[in-house]
Amino acid sequence: MRALVIDHSAPTHLSMAEISDPIPAPDEALVKVAAVSLNRGEVKGATSPETPDGTVIGWDAAGVVVKAAADGSGPAEGTRVVTLGAAAGWAELRAVPAAMLGQVPEDADLGAMSTLPVAGLSALHVLRRAGQLLGRRVMITGASGGVGRFAIQLAARAGAEVVAISGNPAQADGLRALGAHEVHTDPATVERPVFTVLDNIGGQQLVDAFAALEAHGTLFSVGRASETDAVLPPEALLGTEGRHDRSIRTFFLLSDPATDFSADLTWLAAEVAAGRLDPGTSWRGPWARHDEAVQTLLGRRLHGKAVLDIN
Ligand SMILES: NC(=O)c1ccc[n+]([C@@H]2O[C@H](COP(=O)([O-])OP(=O)(O)OC[C@H]3O[C@@H](n4cnc5c(N)ncnc54)[C@H](OP(=O)(O)O)[C@@H]3O)[C@@H](O)[C@H]2O)c1
Repeated sequence: MRALVIDHSAPTHLSMAEISDPIPAPDEALVKVAAVSLNRGEVKGATSPETPDGTVIGWDAAGVVVKAAADGSGPAEGTRVVTLGAAAGWAELRAVPAAMLGQVPEDADLGAMSTLPVAGLSALHVLRRAGQLLGRRVMITGASGGVGRFAIQLAARAGAEVVAISGNPAQADGLRALGAHEVHTDPATVERPVFTVLDNIGGQQLVDAFAALEAHGTLFSVGRASETDAVLPPEALLGTEGRHDRSIRTFFLLSDPATDFSADLTWLAAEVAAGRLDPGTSWRGPWARHDEAVQTLLGRRLHGKAVLDIN
């Protein structure tokens, strides 16, 4: 089969190669991949010299089951699915256990479905950890990105007052249309405190977002798109203006290998298919154009998700 493999001699550290088909374990279905989406983490990870040439990366992929799992778990041959994995998604075939795939409605666009696994599940799981959001202010940094767009929509649906942060003022109208009540370019300019922060950026934005938390509020550190470190000044940790018991929690979607994502993936897929959740696809093309997609993402010109059609 063909796959996008790590190739450190290529400009984006990726190139197309012919490799062996995956051999599914007894609990894995074999999926013919129709579309994949890109995530900042894996695209950056591809550049790491620690990832050997020839590695097939890729977390998000959607397609059709061509061989059901031998042990009877998971969907039957012919089922349309959206899949998550720690690697091996950017290929014509992927072997996936039942816990890492969701079923996709019959007429749904598999490209739109491929945007869901990492970005959609991360937004959903962080917001669940934040607890009841009805009537509470939730700040989302990196709001124009893949995680941010899903988080705005899901937080608004949970009844939160959503404060979106995007460095690009041109994004404001689009983010309001997704459900943001306020849009700022900088968390330091937000006047009223927030109950929860979903931080995708790190560095100074994390510090300023933490300063915007109300007493008992929590900042979830999801990403570090700025690639800079957060240095919290001592006064930030002393409960400024009586706002005590604030906390910072780390988040990693794949932290627990026992997590079963199938129900959440199936729900997210149904929401997108029904038009109730916007996947935010802002770049789409054949996988031969992977370099262009990667450069658009890393150049901060992508505002949403990039999808590659596997053809
Ligand atoms: N912990 C986990 O399990 C987990 C899961 C998913 C994602 N992540 C991480 O979460 C972060 C967001 O993921 P994503 O897929 O949403 O990424 P993304 O689509 O690239 O979005 C990130 C957003 O951050 C802003 N941004 C980009 N570079 C920046 C910079 N240098 N300084 C400040 N802002 C910058 C951009 O918005 P503007 O240009 O509009 O400001 C961009 O839309 C990434 O760091 C990713 O690796 C972690």
